[in-house]
Amino acid sequence: MRKILVTSALPYANGSIHLGHLVEYLQTDIWVRNQKMSENQCIYICADDAHGTPIMLKAHELGINPEELIEKNYKEHCKDFSDFYIEFDNYHSTHSDENKEYSSYIYGKLKEKEDIISKTIEQFYDDQAKMFLPDRYIKGECPKCGAQDQYGDSCEECGGTYSSTEIINPISVVTNTPPITKETEHFFFKLSNYNDFLKEWISNETTQPEIRNKLSEWLSEGLADWDITRDKPYFGFNIPDTKDKYFYVWLDAPVGYIASFKNYCMKHKINFDEFWNKDSTTELYHFIGKDIAYFHALFWPAMLEGANFRKPNAVYCHGFLTIDGEKMSKSRGTFFNARTYLDFLEPEYLRYYFASRLTSKIEDIDLNFDDFQSRVNSDLIGKIINIGSRCAKFVNKDFDDILSDSSENNDLIKECLSRKEEIIKNYELRNYSTNVRLISSLADKINKYLDTEKPWVKIKNDNDRVLVQKICTDGLNLFRILIGYLKPILPNISVKVEDILICEPISWANLDQLLLNKKINKFKPIIKRIDDEDIKSMKNFNKGEKL
Ligand code: 2FM
Ligand code: ZN
Repeated sequence: MRKILVTSALPYANGSIHLGHLVEYLQTDIWVRNQKMSENQCIYICADDAHGTPIMLKAHELGINPEELIEKNYKEHCKDFSDFYIEFDNYHSTHSDENKEYSSYIYGKLKEKEDIISKTIEQFYDDQAKMFLPDRYIKGECPKCGAQDQYGDSCEECGGTYSSTEIINPISVVTNTPPITKETEHFFFKLSNYNDFLKEWISNETTQPEIRNKLSEWLSEGLADWDITRDKPYFGFNIPDTKDKYFYVWLDAPVGYIASFKNYCMKHKINFDEFWNKDSTTELYHFIGKDIAYFHALFWPAMLEGANFRKPNAVYCHGFLTIDGEKMSKSRGTFFNARTYLDFLEPEYLRYYFASRLTSKIEDIDLNFDDFQSRVNSDLIGKIINIGSRCAKFVNKDFDDILSDSSENNDLIKECLSRKEEIIKNYELRNYSTNVRLISSLADKINKYLDTEKPWVKIKNDNDRVLVQKICTDGLNLFRILIGYLKPILPNISVKVEDILICEPISWANLDQLLLNKKINKFKPIIKRIDDEDIKSMKNFNKGEKL
């Protein structure tokens, strides 16, 4: 049995979960469910990323404490995830005792190794708000192309990046006043001490090739010291032995993986060290978006190495989500929150659709609503679920809900079962779209078998009754196999099918046990088709809401 710890990136606690986030949580959840079906020990950990300036300012704007804001969003996030059947083994917060302990511990270890240095730097300061300003809180004229109203770190017009001190006519976004510059002492992590270690780490297939190339480029350019300090006021953890200095949110965020796992260990009596000791033989995988590879594949392994923890086996990046071919946009009404989607559509439509588009590559994936509707209605419902309803109908009506005691078309059953290892492997390799295609092609074969056998004609002939019962028993067994193959993607539909067929929860080990000579329940509709109206209403609601 493999022992695996899996994480998705920790969502910020200042906003709602949206469809863009869900690409990652669904990708990870499907991966984890596949492991669980193999009866591996697979622990899926996540948490809210609760610290940082935006959270502090948002709470201020709402007239509440940051603690109240993160508490409210924590509950909302948990509900959104669970309504999409994203099943974390533990969902914690980076604003926790465990995280404070491990962040300080790791920092202490890095300090002992002389990886932390202190420098006095000049930063923009908002004298009215009495705070230092992160780059994103400065706006002004781009020093490269002159475009107005650009952020302090990069220009949306020319794509140039620069330091906030280069920006022309800077303005503080917090108070709309020109900032002053002020000196402050900051602590930096000397990432360059880990150059050789990181070169070795990335050479071991720990990231996808595109990311590896990018990391090598960064490594050969030389790694800059990483500023891990923020001055007060800041919502975060105080840096040990300092006054009014806080850890930058990106220092304690990945430590949140360890902290959430520790919290899980305390609740479930799991051996923490077995998973995090330097020589651990368990597996660790992080699923993240391509934009945060730098943090996860450079800073994070270096921090772990410095503090004597194990390193991830791999960091898996995915691309972004576009909607109908374009970047999600609030002003165009194409920015959908998870809750808005759930108010109009079933979660498993999206699970199925995203799975049908997801591969191991870092390409962006597009949610095209016409394609979404047709894949769900024609493939999932019209082809796959229809096999169950076609066959159960006869078993329920003509055979007192009893399956026959032997099968008619063993070859087709064998053929479908023969793809099991390939399907498990595709899930492991994150090639979900290959599985959806493969399962759909098996459904075509099964439907063809039923179309050829025509149980609805044969049932009219008394001599063929036994045969019809066998054909429909085959159909239902084949249906169970397909639903088993889709179980990591469609967990709730699988439960409904297991209930209709009165069978054990399907696992990879019991998939090939045929259901024969036994009772089933009456077939109940499993999931409704998507009407044009459902999508239209959701889009209209979203546009209205954002006006
Ligand atoms: O980019 C983000 O949304 C961050 N909140 C991800 C943090 S992942 C981990 F490092 F905590
Ligand atoms: Zn510019």
